[in-house]
Amino acid sequence: MQSGSDFSGINEAKHRMDHIYDHCDPRLYCSTLEDLNYSIPDSAKLICQALIEQLREVRNRDTVHVVDLGCSYGINAALLRYDLSMEDLYARWDMDHRAEDSCREIIRSDQEFFENMHQDGKLEIIGIDPARNAVNFAEETGLVDTGLAVDLESEPVSEPVEDGLASTDLLMSTGCVGYVTEKSFERLMPAVSREPPAWIANFVLRIFPYQPIQDCLASWGYETEKLEDRTFLQRRMASPDEQEKVIRQLRDRNIDPSGQEADGNLVAEFFLSRPTEEVQQQPLHQLLQP
Ligand SMILES: C[S@@+](CC[C@H](N)C(=O)[O-])C[C@H]1O[C@@H](n2cnc3c(N)ncnc32)[C@H](O)[C@@H]1O
Repeated sequence: MQSGSDFSGINEAKHRMDHIYDHCDPRLYCSTLEDLNYSIPDSAKLICQALIEQLREVRNRDTVHVVDLGCSYGINAALLRYDLSMEDLYARWDMDHRAEDSCREIIRSDQEFFENMHQDGKLEIIGIDPARNAVNFAEETGLVDTGLAVDLESEPVSEPVEDGLASTDLLMSTGCVGYVTEKSFERLMPAVSREPPAWIANFVLRIFPYQPIQDCLASWGYETEKLEDRTFLQRRMASPDEQEKVIRQLRDRNIDPSGQEADGNLVAEFFLSRPTEEVQQQPLHQLLQP
């Protein structure tokens, strides 16, 4: 297998967040990202719920199987399963408010909280993330049904895991492309493209070129559509230094930052990849029509 794209230069422009990704509960993650108005999971919720409804209809079943790549503490799973927003999660996992609680106490109270909360439709969610402690939290609290603490940039998918991923209807990610390249997708495709093939929904910061992933998926018979004329706030820039470096990266690729990154926002675009015949039957703009 070829090596993935080298995003190290682009990642250097971005503020480093690695220290918040792998704790035994999401308090540091949430308090850090709330300050930056990290909100891409709220946008992903609206779009992915619409896709999930479509999948229920076209595949004629209640339970939809979702894989969340870069799942962290199960944030997307919480929003997709329950009537919750990022604001609710920030309030629940507020660092100051719950500073005295141990991880065990947080996990125990979250198990109870989510267990007693109404779920709209049936979802089976597998979360993938190399951050073992975060994945453990997502699994123990029941936000994901299965958590896989693996780094597909550096390790292949094992046979039992491949079988578990074979029923995937929707492979999604928020805030993850850039950490992952086409290499992770190349490793997921043998499993998730099995009949019926998964739809692949990625929210991707404009600083990361999506073409290498698009090309990888095309080699599996997938066509990619970008949601035109829409951008989604991922978060505010962490500093003037980050903003300056991000804008430089964008200008190098002839992307106009005005009204977006130039205003201090890190913004993402939405890409959906599906087998070509499904795209022809129902293009993205029709799928998302209310
Ligand atoms: C900005 S966070 C986004 C988390 C979550 N999707 C959300 O929107 O709240 C980036 C996530 O990517 C994860 N990540 C880093 N390298 C990864 C890899 N090789 N494969 C999958 N996830 C990775 C990090 O551990 C972290 O959880």
